[in-house]
Amino acid sequence: MHDFKYKDNELYCESVAIRQLAEKYGTPLYVYSRKTLVDHYKKIRDAFKSLRPLICFSMKANSNITLCKALVKEGSGLDIVSGGELYIALKTGVATKKIVYASVGKTEKEIETAIRHHIFLFNVESLPELEMIDKVAARLGRRQAVAIRINPDVRPKTHKYITTGRKENKFGVDMETARGIFMNRARFPHLNICGIHIHIGSQIVDAQPFVKAIETISVFINELERKGVNIRWFNIGGGLGIIYSNERPQTAEEYAKAVVPILKKVKAGVILEPGRFIAGNSGILLTRVVYVKETATKNFAVVDAGMNDLTRPSLYGAYHDVLPVRSASYGSSSELRSYDIVGPICESGDFLAKGRKFIDLKQGEFLAVMSTGAYGFSMSSNYNARPRPAEVMVDGKHHKLIRRRETYRDLVRTELP
Ligand code: LLP
Repeated sequence: MHDFKYKDNELYCESVAIRQLAEKYGTPLYVYSRKTLVDHYKKIRDAFKSLRPLICFSMKANSNITLCKALVKEGSGLDIVSGGELYIALKTGVATKKIVYASVGKTEKEIETAIRHHIFLFNVESLPELEMIDKVAARLGRRQAVAIRINPDVRPKTHKYITTGRKENKFGVDMETARGIFMNRARFPHLNICGIHIHIGSQIVDAQPFVKAIETISVFINELERKGVNIRWFNIGGGLGIIYSNERPQTAEEYAKAVVPILKKVKAGVILEPGRFIAGNSGILLTRVVYVKETATKNFAVVDAGMNDLTRPSLYGAYHDVLPVRSASYGSSSELRSYDIVGPICESGDFLAKGRKFIDLKQGEFLAVMSTGAYGFSMSSNYNARPRPAEVMVDGKHHKLIRRRETYRDLVRTELP
């Protein structure tokens, strides 16, 4: 699953002792295993190889340039959602013909920049957006390829904030609207409306909702073909779940086994845009215990990472495993004590984990918050005027700073007197 393992009671990332990284680069610190990252990309690529799909890593999960570059080098494209992500994507050296662009709120300026850079496909989420892209393409004298994002109205079992394919969500259009768009595509002379996109949610652990959504769309694609509409691309989105605690998510192979036979029945080329599956288990957030605070009801380990560094526990009640960097702290089970791992932020909701068992946590000791490679740093903020953490990439026995820690000066850099 990943390359963070204990050797001689010390946690390692590949061949590098985590403690060494904490001492050299300080904490809080995001640490990534290049091998885990690339292996997960390869798992998807290999599972789907009979379809030769375009896999576009969803940059919102982690947009660090070095990390994205490692995937681009393996042949990955990128899924972007903003002008900012396009800007970063261009710095990775990705072929712009491998960029797909979703988002319900693309502005005219963002659309223009993306068209100028010859991105591959816009995933269009509404009729007014379609009109806007047509208008901008006309102005630039271009014909832009687009896919229509359809909301297949399936109900994946996941957190309500991260389901996206239900009728009441803001994303995509319903089937009827899509049908109308395809049948009247001549209304948009500067668009090549040649694809369908779906993305039904995130952290989906079982293949069934994907199967249902893909089946529904496949039937629709065949209907359109009969009506003379040629669908060249079917983008099945991301959403594959990973192991945070005791989930048993489908593997890439199981996922492919369930959906490839359906996808083979349509002529369209396939696009995937996984984020979490590729990056999630490749990263940890390393933090230091600042104080151990014992109260009548609870023990708190106050650490130097907070909800501004990793917001998932506070925002979604998400579970992340927390491991001591020295496994000796586990000790024998009779000596275990329960701790809430909390940050320094002035909010009661600022916690990384609750009720976790350790043997006597000590001031100064390092803890690893696991599976934080996706939606970790990318959702971090400067709340409480906290500089955001540094990021380090480990590759075998080598390690490299891939984002320096922010300074206090960075905190005020954009302010004007
Ligand atoms: N494609 C589209 C259009 C998306 O909206 C997303 C994620 C993805 C692909 C990638 O999904 P993934 O493979 O990573 O599940 N912040 C939340 C997750 C939000 C996901 C938003 N969209 C979290 O921390 O769990």
